[in-house]
Amino acid sequence: MKLSQKSVSWLVILLFVAGYGLLAQEASKTSGAAIFKNKCVICHGADGSGNTPLGKQLQAANFHSKDVQKLSNAELHKIVHDGQANMPAFADQLSDEEITQVVKYVRQLGKTPAAKK
Ligand code: HEC
Repeated sequence: MKLSQKSVSWLVILLFVAGYGLLAQEASKTSGAAIFKNKCVICHGADGSGNTPLGKQLQAANFHSKDVQKLSNAELHKIVHDGQANMPAFADQLSDEEITQVVKYVRQLGKTPAAKK
């Protein structure tokens, strides 16, 4: 069977789109982590346990706790956007898309065990 020029082009386009999708997914994974590192680690700690000097002082939430993980993505999004108690608002620092990414990362952190103290 000889592939027509047209079907070969389609195949190339399909592969390109699929590859791009994978790359985009990969990039968004790192961006949630990067945002967290830049903006959140100082209080919440790299492992999300809130076990940092500033985090302890302000009583930052522990992402491994049920209290945090039981909240919906929309609720977490709102808390990061608007702030809550000692947690600052990030509405003017992060776009909605960035907040979505960092909330995904908070979920991911919550699922991995906290670092040993
Ligand atoms: C200045 C310190 C500080 C920084 C920076 C900070 N947080 Fe917080 N965060 C807190 C404190 C304090 C709380 C507990 C708030 C409360 O008692 O309601 C909290 C709570 C939370 C909660 C849980 C809220 C709940 O009701 O359980 C989430 C989720 C969260 N922060 C995400 C983030 C993310 C994402 C970032 C970075 C974009 C971030 N925080 C940056 C201090 C901080």
